[in-house]
Amino acid sequence: MIFWRVKPLEQILANAEKKSLKRQLGPWQLTMLGIGAIIGTGIFVLTSVAANSAGPAMMISFVIAAVVCGLAALAYAELASMVPVSGSAYTYSYAVMGELVAWIVGWALVLEYAVAAGAVAVGWSGYMHGILREIGIHLPATLMAGPFDTITLEDGSTVQGSFNVLAFAISLLIMVLLVLGTSKSAKFNAVLVFIKLAALGLFIALALPAIDGANFQPFMPNGFFANEQEIAGSVLTVGVTAAAATIFFAYVGFDAVSTAAEETVNPNRNMPIGIIGSLGICTIIYLLVAAAATGTVGAQPGGELAMSKEPLAFVLREIGYPWIGTLVAVAAGLALPSVILMMMYGQTRIFFVMSRDGLLPERLSVVHPRFHTPHVITIITGVGVSVFAALFPVRMLADISNSGTLFAFAMVALAVIILRRTQPDRPRAFRVPAAWLVCPLAIFGCVFLFLNLSGHTELLFLYWTLLGLVVYFLYGYRK
Ligand code: ALA
Repeated sequence: MIFWRVKPLEQILANAEKKSLKRQLGPWQLTMLGIGAIIGTGIFVLTSVAANSAGPAMMISFVIAAVVCGLAALAYAELASMVPVSGSAYTYSYAVMGELVAWIVGWALVLEYAVAAGAVAVGWSGYMHGILREIGIHLPATLMAGPFDTITLEDGSTVQGSFNVLAFAISLLIMVLLVLGTSKSAKFNAVLVFIKLAALGLFIALALPAIDGANFQPFMPNGFFANEQEIAGSVLTVGVTAAAATIFFAYVGFDAVSTAAEETVNPNRNMPIGIIGSLGICTIIYLLVAAAATGTVGAQPGGELAMSKEPLAFVLREIGYPWIGTLVAVAAGLALPSVILMMMYGQTRIFFVMSRDGLLPERLSVVHPRFHTPHVITIITGVGVSVFAALFPVRMLADISNSGTLFAFAMVALAVIILRRTQPDRPRAFRVPAAWLVCPLAIFGCVFLFLNLSGHTELLFLYWTLLGLVVYFLYGYRK
């Protein structure tokens, strides 16, 4: 059957070898690359969503999400060391499970990357609105959120949004930068990583000493497993595991490290250090931030932290450092656009590879004669991201993105298991330790978190996949 045809590993590797990159990245640079892609809207913004969902027990949610990502990260590291080419989970699936599965994975990755870019843009706008307010510029409230979101005014009243104009604008701006050829620059990334770490470090240093143990009570107000409750006027999927399924977003991005496999010195040793190292560092930082935010101002569902769109700046203002709160907001304002850029860039790369493989029209992958970038695909992606960002709330976008990412992660773990059986002797620069245990656990973790997303997110994922199948049979299959 044609749709089970695989693209042999030899062919993938031979294509990649034609233009091979210089091996220059070491463990330190890889870790920085990972941290650059990981820290973003998740910790800066979704901390409040997690509080609304789990209360102080959101710290457990952070740990659950980190464990699932850690397991998936090991699987990524093995495949990245075997198939060190771009295209990520899509390419791996093509090599192992055939065209149809690869198509579905590529289609799901649109959720992971494009929708995530939109989520980060909305998160960024929350901090920008705070900064504008501080300097006395007042945007009309309806232009500060999409139609499915609300804005809380200074007098405590809430207003329905209509169009998030800043999130829209930043997405278009990033699109223009990508068309002009801006991409990852290691030095620039290092500066932004420094800014993010400095902001979070400052937050932890100032907030930790102000912790009051009473703020951790009640610890688990919405229970452990996902359930539905009405909070501040909306019916939400809440609980510790539901918060874990949302906060999973905060860890996504470590797979960016795997895409640098071709440029890594001694990938056997350095890939896993980069992937696991960046994930580990971020986990520790996230736990400290979550503990500090909870302990200082409390994290009860429906409370002020839970409702804030710029939670870290809010905490610092509350504990008497308004000026530093604004500084942290400025740091988020400077650093989050680079996460949007990486996500959008990842999306264009995946579309590019899919179109080169003939699953999407070839016209899409034309390269601009002057800028040497795939401008058609970049513009389509950028306009899509801008529209998502203008219309939808950050939690909805993060959840939808997570559904696609969890699917892709599970497929990567499955691919590791299959390849261990079908090609046991192929050299693996890095091997997942106890793969027979780790890979099934990774799949289980992804399925578990997926099932803890809200019902409408799961349904949306299903519709999206069905749409993908229709497109495949109408177009990709025939080509
Ligand atoms: N992990 C990235 C973020 O939180 C996607 O923004």
